[in-house]
Amino acid sequence: MAEAMLGLKRTHRCTEVTAAQIGGTVTVMGWVQKSRNKGGIIFVDLRDRSGILQLIFEEKDCGPENFAKAEKLRSEFVIAVVGRVEARSGAVNENLATGAIEIRAEQLRILSESEVPPFPIEENSRTKEELRLKYRFLDIRRPDIQRNLMLRSKVATMTRAILADQGFWEIETPTLIKSTPEGARDYLVPSRVHPGSFYALPQSPQLFKQLLMCSGCDRYFQLARCYRDEDLRADRQPEFTQIDMEMSFADVDDVIGVNEVLLQKLFKEVCNFDLQLPIPRMTWREAMDRFGSDKPDLRFGMELKNVTELVKGCGFGVFTGAVENGGSVRGINAQGQGAMPRKKIDALVDFAKGFGAKGLAYLAIQEDGSYKCSFAKFMTEEELKALADAMDGKPGDLLLFAADKDKVVFDVLGNLRLELAKQQDLLKKDDFKFLWVTEFPLLEYSEEENRYVAMHHPFTMPMDEDLPLIDTNPGAVRAKAYDIVLNGTEMGGGSVRIHQADIQAKMFEVLGFTPEQANQQFGFLLEAFKYGVPPHAGLAYGFDRMIMLMVGADSIRDVIAFPKVKDASCMMTEAPTPVAPKQLEELCIKISEKEE
Ligand code: AMO
Ligand code: AMP
Repeated sequence: MAEAMLGLKRTHRCTEVTAAQIGGTVTVMGWVQKSRNKGGIIFVDLRDRSGILQLIFEEKDCGPENFAKAEKLRSEFVIAVVGRVEARSGAVNENLATGAIEIRAEQLRILSESEVPPFPIEENSRTKEELRLKYRFLDIRRPDIQRNLMLRSKVATMTRAILADQGFWEIETPTLIKSTPEGARDYLVPSRVHPGSFYALPQSPQLFKQLLMCSGCDRYFQLARCYRDEDLRADRQPEFTQIDMEMSFADVDDVIGVNEVLLQKLFKEVCNFDLQLPIPRMTWREAMDRFGSDKPDLRFGMELKNVTELVKGCGFGVFTGAVENGGSVRGINAQGQGAMPRKKIDALVDFAKGFGAKGLAYLAIQEDGSYKCSFAKFMTEEELKALADAMDGKPGDLLLFAADKDKVVFDVLGNLRLELAKQQDLLKKDDFKFLWVTEFPLLEYSEEENRYVAMHHPFTMPMDEDLPLIDTNPGAVRAKAYDIVLNGTEMGGGSVRIHQADIQAKMFEVLGFTPEQANQQFGFLLEAFKYGVPPHAGLAYGFDRMIMLMVGADSIRDVIAFPKVKDASCMMTEAPTPVAPKQLEELCIKISEKEE
């Protein structure tokens, strides 16, 4: 039978009770973590969000009525206890903040009972994530998720303070907006008042923050909810949060400057990590050449080497064929992996094929200096030796080569590099390697759409020296765009924006928009640009990703209170669900069968 608090007032959270209170009386409330009945004496671990506190019930202290109630306690009952703080009678528990004390209970109220929970509430749960997400309200009781949410809250609060201090205004932008799909797919919201018309949920506040710069707000930020209907991965959710910002009269260095201070303060406070400034910068070109990735993980080496020149005249058709087709041959040196068994190498070949490789050539240098090599019969001993030397190959090393179009070679080796690092346990979660990747290409050719698409977004400014190329060789134009990369994850990205109407018009032209189409979609922005627009630049972090990296979680689901799963559904509420016919009628919507 649930009792009321009836005038009882909590005096302390569990771990706020310390040895300093010994001899005093406290009132604590929380959940029963576990209860052990040792005959005349009952030990209860009481839990709240702060941690665990040990309670002791003996009839001589609490009386027969309270003792009888204590005998009924089960895990997850919610109780209130008034008791005296004492030094621990048994061994001090070093693992608990409150390990040196215990509460001798004098009064007990059972505020609510609990059914047996579907899984134990414990740290490092081994319960399947699906079950945990179905009962997320219980899952969040676990100390690891509680800690993640606490840190998330702390980072949000700190971010607000730090940015406000730098002259940023926090401004909310609408979340029912016009659909301007350019990038991911939009989530649409039907309008009842305008049947057949739809709002979109924002993929980011991009256009509004640029308008705020036109409006003279100078510096804006927001913890913004964003919605993207794209395929989910461990670091992607259909709805997620950005720390979004924009600055007027600012260039690349201004944005980087503000953000380096922000990152330094956040990582010091939350992770006790001393971020050395400036954060290194690397151009996109260099990142691709050295790491095969635009978000290189700098916690380990294993850099790519380009051996195209060396092998272009060799007898191995796979290599020469790739070169003749305009591609390249590159390799990585997995140091000390030369004795890798054939089976494991085959698994690497399959892994590479998963990224579009036609194969993966290998040369394993044995401890005696001899080679085990998948293409030995196509090359002379001298050629093999020259190749091994070019790769800095030493006895005991495993050299892996991909030959293909650059894009495939980078993708294969970039991912292989990460896979090998994982296998060798080189990725330490408490090591933070930051990097700015700069000078991204402005455009990317989409085979699917048969046109150039913006690599960042259509409002990103080309680099001044590349402007003349925009007509002659658009693919070669670099942009004033930058990403902040941490340990191989793109934590944030931004750019200097186009603020000149003629360059923006040119950009739309290159993207294949007619002036009418551009006007129809982005007319309000182009209109704003007619009335005095300050040069501006900005950036947005994936807030969930930032927290994930800070706490060392494997997935952003672990740092989001109520996340969605792979098919974008919510295990707990079962959203999305069909709606009542009446709701659809009001919206003038008819559901048609999906064609297979
Ligand atoms: P961008 O599209 O690069 O830029 O997004 C910025 C950052 O948001 C995070 N992010 C995501 N996090 C979780 N789930 C997702 N589905 C997801 N998609 C993106 C990433 C990414 O770096 N308006 C621009 C920013 C600007 O130019 O100022 C923008 O949205 O960490
Ligand atoms: P093959 O003569 O096809 O058996 O190939 C010889 C070796 O080259 C094998 O180890 C293949 O996995 C490898 N290989 C095939 N295609 C490629 C490629 N595009 N890049 C690198 N290695 C390849």
